[in-house]
Amino acid sequence: MCGIAGYIGHKPAGQVLIVALERLKYRGYDSAGLALVDEGEIRLRRAAGKLKNLSDKLDAVPAPGTCGIAHTRWATHGPPTEANCHPHLSGDERIAVVHNGIIENHEELRRELQAQGAVFRSETDTEVIPHLIASVYRGKPLEAVRATVARLRGSFAFAVVFADQPRRIIAVRQGSPLLVGRGRSAPGSAPAGRARNDRSVTDGGTPSDQRELLIASDIPALLPHATEMLVLEDGQIADLGEHGVRITTFTGSPVTAVFKPIEITAEAVSKGKHDTFMAKEIAEQPEVLRRLLDSRLRDGRLVEPDLGVDLRAVNHLVFLACGTSWHAALNGRRYLESLARVHVEVDISSEYRYRNPIAAGGTLVVSISQSGETADTIAGQRLARAKFIPVVALVNVVTSTIARESGGVLPLLAGPEIGVASTKAYTAQLFALWLFALQVAKAKGLLDPETESKAIAAALRLPGQVAETLAGCESAVAEAADLFSAANDTVFLGRGGEHPTALEGALKLKEIAYVHASGYPAGEFKHGPIAQVTAKLPVICLCPHDQLYEKMLSNVQEVRARHGRIIGVGHAGDRQLKDLCDHVFPVARADDEMLQPLLSILPLQRYAYHVARRRDCDVDQPRNLAKSVTVE
Ligand code: F6R
Repeated sequence: MCGIAGYIGHKPAGQVLIVALERLKYRGYDSAGLALVDEGEIRLRRAAGKLKNLSDKLDAVPAPGTCGIAHTRWATHGPPTEANCHPHLSGDERIAVVHNGIIENHEELRRELQAQGAVFRSETDTEVIPHLIASVYRGKPLEAVRATVARLRGSFAFAVVFADQPRRIIAVRQGSPLLVGRGRSAPGSAPAGRARNDRSVTDGGTPSDQRELLIASDIPALLPHATEMLVLEDGQIADLGEHGVRITTFTGSPVTAVFKPIEITAEAVSKGKHDTFMAKEIAEQPEVLRRLLDSRLRDGRLVEPDLGVDLRAVNHLVFLACGTSWHAALNGRRYLESLARVHVEVDISSEYRYRNPIAAGGTLVVSISQSGETADTIAGQRLARAKFIPVVALVNVVTSTIARESGGVLPLLAGPEIGVASTKAYTAQLFALWLFALQVAKAKGLLDPETESKAIAAALRLPGQVAETLAGCESAVAEAADLFSAANDTVFLGRGGEHPTALEGALKLKEIAYVHASGYPAGEFKHGPIAQVTAKLPVICLCPHDQLYEKMLSNVQEVRARHGRIIGVGHAGDRQLKDLCDHVFPVARADDEMLQPLLSILPLQRYAYHVARRRDCDVDQPRNLAKSVTVE
């Protein structure tokens, strides 16, 4: 969790960094802070609570400087108080550090540093870093940082500034993501605010071409200043300064810095005409699915991305995922079993990583993750790799750890997902899993050209059906939210492919509207949970016309007989459903039944959004959450 950023350039660093934090706050948002280097001093501004508190503080007491680092926090060690906010300082306040990750041996280091006289001001694990650096700093930042990382255990990305190094940031990566960004060169323009006696490049280096230099936990925070970026690898240190960017390993070996153009635009990370990122991302779904499909079609046929695995030989698939991605995996199992006749296990990453899974030949692990940085999924796939099981990643962020540590990558191409509640990534995951199932089926000779053509025709019509559903369900959803937003419990029921939809609908309502909600396989409801039904309980029943429609209607009858308030999700014009339900959220009918869950989830995303708005909840930044769960 947490996001870090840094900037060296000619613009006021405080303003640049506030925008960067704005784009990182999906990673954590319970407190924020920044440290700017100015006239041989470190200017620190920190505030508990939302980022707005920090920017108000910066407005009230501006901090000059064109070089600095910043942090947005999701508390792990110590509550979200100002004292625990990053950046953390060394005892003499000449060194400041921002950190994402966990220092596992911080207790032991803290005791050692305290015995040497260090006074700690926070409860965080991070604070050992500036104290350690200070204890070995003799005017050579790189040497001091190198000596410090040799003492740290855990997973971390951190950045350091020094009061006596006015235009210098040292950034380190070991297990948590970190990117280095670079702007266009501006020949001849000396950076404003540069101290005249700047002797920052103490470790050698080439002359600067005066580009803006940045670091960040994720690409959006590099925009719009950086036009190209590199992904720092584990075990590497980036030294940013007047000399440009130099990369070395923890042991000091030089690494060639290879920058690539950034393809994401600043517009892609703004809300546009929408009031929240979640609303924007829900609306983007037709376009996301169209883009994903386009990338997989050539001359009207499906093209298979090269995953570096012989899919013909795969006879056992393991999906590793958490949260919403796990819900997508549940439908992935249906797709793979039914289309490719492969035995599939779906594992929650945090469970898989502590089992002793069997590494039989023909097994393939597929990690499913929007962010590609979920700690449990990373650990799960590392365990699989240690057992020589091949791993493929289905990810949205292709520069992520999960993608880079996998043998092959299936990109979701959903664009940046910034709202904490996953929406467009979920439908993209379902679609990508269905396409993957077709790919495996084809590799195994189980997909004849006629079936492939039918599947493609169904897929081509899907984006339009998504748009139709979003438009068609809106008034019914808003009306139901008016009626039920005060309800503190909601139940979601679905069967077959709609069981994951029920789980996902419940998760959306829990996480952004703080409503207690449960999703059940409808056939299981009578085995206990049906006792909850009263005339006040909204029960959302997923009833599209699939092979389990009749069974589902019987389950709806059972709820109706106990006076539950039924909201049906089904096809417009379904009279039978209308007669059974108090309300109906209409959805289009997918041409291929397996794609129906991509449509059924849409009103549930909008329902959670509307209920959250009516309950005055912060839709994009729900309490207690962070977008990337980079801790266990
Ligand atoms: C819920 C949500 C989470 C994530 C989960 C896994 O809306 O977003 O449940 O799905 O934390 O994250 P990724 O997919 O990034 O591994």
